[in-house]
Amino acid sequence: MSETPEPAGPGRVVGTPVTAAYPDLRGKVAVVTGAARGMGARFAAALAVRGVDVVGADIDADAMAVTAKEITAEAAAVVRPGRVVAARADVTKADEHEAVAQVALAEFGRLDLWVNNAGIFPFAEVDAITPEQIRAALSVNVEGVLFGAQAAARHMRPGGAIVNMSSVSAVRVRRGRGAYCSSKAAVAHLTESLAVELGDRGIRVNAIAPGYIDTEMTRWVREDKAALQHALDAVPLHRLGSPEEVVGPLLFLLSDSARYVTGHSIAVDGGSRHV
Ligand SMILES: NC(=O)c1ccc[n+]([C@@H]2O[C@H](COP(=O)([O-])OP(=O)(O)OC[C@H]3O[C@@H](n4cnc5c(N)ncnc54)[C@H](O)[C@@H]3O)[C@@H](O)[C@H]2O)c1
Repeated sequence: MSETPEPAGPGRVVGTPVTAAYPDLRGKVAVVTGAARGMGARFAAALAVRGVDVVGADIDADAMAVTAKEITAEAAAVVRPGRVVAARADVTKADEHEAVAQVALAEFGRLDLWVNNAGIFPFAEVDAITPEQIRAALSVNVEGVLFGAQAAARHMRPGGAIVNMSSVSAVRVRRGRGAYCSSKAAVAHLTESLAVELGDRGIRVNAIAPGYIDTEMTRWVREDKAALQHALDAVPLHRLGSPEEVVGPLLFLLSDSARYVTGHSIAVDGGSRHV
């Protein structure tokens, strides 16, 4: 059999093979916002055990420091883990994103990956929702993503990857979630806009759209039997997801295996977007 690669023909592109040992992210540097707990903490840990240096940023500085220590202890079990540094940042402030990027550059000398994970979930029906609630949802969930992408793009080289946390709520409305659903729909759309613009610089931008994931944010569902049953009725897989089950899609989107994927949202929702 010939060792010579076939030449490119009309409509065909013969490129170098995707050689990454999936998902090989060793030596990269990542920022994860909202990393003090929940999915963000899981993401930071998953990256660290795969040899990625991580700046975990959260508005709750004390919790972030504790989580960074816990992740460091967990990652010590693997050969050449990444280092985890804790930073305090409020994602509603553009300059605090820049400060986090500077921590990454000062500690690790580069910036490759950025996960806009921090988010809030205000719950109120239309007559009760306050201006503060809707402003907070848009500020944390939407401006937080935009400011994060701006800081990331300022310092990333071609090959950089950004992942935003959208939600099944971007495409499915439920009662009491007007502020949340509209903010996550904005994240989905913003992800597409950012992908179009940052593609010029070789930076990919994608999103993950989780359904019910078992974290502090959804504790009220888990603890209320009726709410839990109602939630599970809308999940074809009939259970909540775990933060660990969102890690695989995140690593894929961040890795070279997804190097031709941009402007896409991956649903990790047990099928609930269809119900
Ligand atoms: N849990 C779910 O079912 C679910 C479903 C869909 C989408 N999401 C989204 O996934 C992301 C993570 O959710 P989670 O369930 O892990 O949430 P969580 O509430 O457990 O954790 C959110 C983290 O974000 C931090 N944070 C909040 N406001 C911040 C701010 N202004 N600046 C910096 N940090 C801030 C919090 O301190 C906390 O550590 C969020 O964007 C959320 O909207 C969650």
